[in-house]
Amino acid sequence: MTRALREARVDLAAITRNVEVIRSAVAPAKVMVVVKANGYGHGAIPVAGAAVAGGADWLGVVDISEAITLRDAGIEVPILSWLHDPGASFGDAIAAGIDIGVNYFDQLEAVAATSGTASLHLKVDTGLSRNGASEAEWERLFSRAAELERAGSIRVRGLFSHLANTSTRDDEEQVARFTDALERARAAGLDPELAHLAASGGALGLPQARFDLVRIGISAYGLSPFDDGDSAAIGVTPAMELSAGIASVKRVPAGSGVSYGYRYTTTAETTLALVPIGYADGIPRHGSNAAPVSINGRTYRVCGTIAMDQFVVDVGDDAVAVGDRAVLFGDPATGVPSAHDWAVASGTINYEIVTRIGNRVVRSYES
Ligand SMILES: Cc1ncc(COP(=O)(O)O)c(C=O)c1O
Repeated sequence: MTRALREARVDLAAITRNVEVIRSAVAPAKVMVVVKANGYGHGAIPVAGAAVAGGADWLGVVDISEAITLRDAGIEVPILSWLHDPGASFGDAIAAGIDIGVNYFDQLEAVAATSGTASLHLKVDTGLSRNGASEAEWERLFSRAAELERAGSIRVRGLFSHLANTSTRDDEEQVARFTDALERARAAGLDPELAHLAASGGALGLPQARFDLVRIGISAYGLSPFDDGDSAAIGVTPAMELSAGIASVKRVPAGSGVSYGYRYTTTAETTLALVPIGYADGIPRHGSNAAPVSINGRTYRVCGTIAMDQFVVDVGDDAVAVGDRAVLFGDPATGVPSAHDWAVASGTINYEIVTRIGNRVVRSYES
């Protein structure tokens, strides 16, 4: 079978297994698998199917349109969508049976004013200072939500927040603030069935942050949320392998400048292999002269500047031919570099490495 020039091969069975592993680690908490941003670049619909097969109780997305795409694909598990602009189509969400994350008072009013009974999760800011109601607003938000619930215009199914992952101490403070918010919500007359705070880091590293449900993204894709980037240490397998077919090979003399700005110069006669994938495909330019690439079982470094569509690897005197596969990252247990290795070489995080992979890269699926 001919392989695409640029291919992100996604192992759906790995995603299913990863979800199973995390599910049993966090039980009895339920698991929401986060498939926003096209399933962290892996493909939201196939990932959602694999996650449900692994026992995901919920799916999480940012935009209502992302949730509707999943519903249109026939995915029936509960879905939460949590970030909305003022013109958000809450009516479409309610009609599609999508739970709505509500972040502030006026948004609560807007959701309640939409026809149909919205199932919603109130979001409280417990220290991240991003989305969610500030503490000063909690009382007013909770008592109005209780009133609207009694009137039948909404159902408050969840209360949630998000950790900053700054330090265990900071996260524990957020757990305490979240517990306080939960008590205050109950005192106001609410009885949310699902309290949820932790993403992958909290779910795996801070048991007291698990509450009723954890929202896992990166770990479901087989990557670690922790600084060491060690997937095996948390029992998961990277699902995405990114590769490209070598487009040309040439012998060049010593002293040849390579790619824009000649940031690499050959020191001896050597073979240069051209890898046809670049920053237009989401490959970080910061990985120039640094990031690892595996070709025929050997790992090399990117040589010179990563360009829009291509970069060069100096393979010395090794036998490399047009059409051989250059693997940028995959499962390090198979001897190839990891997304974490690319993140370290590029000064970013594994999340960004996989999520940025662009549309020219063909996703193919194994199950
Ligand atoms: C609100 C929320 N919950 C959960 C997650 C999943 O996080 P992670 O990929 O670290 O598991 C995210 C991702 O950014 C998020 O924004």
